[in-house]
Amino acid sequence: MIIAVDGPAASGKGTIARALAKHYGLPHMDTGLLYRAVALNLWRWGGDPASEFEALRACDMLNIDPSDEELRSEPVSMIASSISVYPSVRTALRDRQQAFAAQPGGAVLDGRDIGTVIAPEADVKLFVTASPEVRAERRTRELAGRGMTAHFEEVLADIRARDERDSGRDAAPLRQAEDAILLDTTALDAAAATAEAVRLAEERLARR
Ligand code: CDP
Repeated sequence: MIIAVDGPAASGKGTIARALAKHYGLPHMDTGLLYRAVALNLWRWGGDPASEFEALRACDMLNIDPSDEELRSEPVSMIASSISVYPSVRTALRDRQQAFAAQPGGAVLDGRDIGTVIAPEADVKLFVTASPEVRAERRTRELAGRGMTAHFEEVLADIRARDERDSGRDAAPLRQAEDAILLDTTALDAAAATAEAVRLAEERLARR
């Protein structure tokens, strides 16, 4: 069973994907971490995010340490969004995601293009969204909770810029798959959002 959870920054897709993975006893991949790891590599080398060639080189030897706080920093978020427009970078990261999705028993993956490109055959597809202001509030709180300085206005501007770039790019743009279920979490806290996601998944699976 493959569950695809897509949506814009700080929409709650990661929380929902983790909850679904726990509920169904499936492994979970946060595909944004792959793009963030490439961005962090590039940043540490002093590479140029405007160069597709340098971004592609940063895909080599990708060691991902999910506990590395820098992966979640705002500069790395912005670079991740810049380098994820490159088709060669997306291709370099595709096999790893598709192999994860294809493992026996299935998997839950969250990202931007799971339901559209990585696993179009997914059994359940959720498209998780929320208003930009609510997403900026969540991200500001999350960053502050990690001890990073974050200002609401700046985070909101970042989120809007990334939304525009993620949706406007030619390679695998952020969009709701035709057979994805829309889940708007603007008025939902994490517990309510995950409960609703499980309910929607159950409903979809029952109709298979
Ligand atoms: O957690 P947040 O939504 O802020 O970001 P993320 O999911 O960690 O993704 C970071 C960046 O990677 C996004 O802005 C996207 O541009 C890119 N990304 C992508 O292009 N495709 C994916 N499947 C996942 C992330």
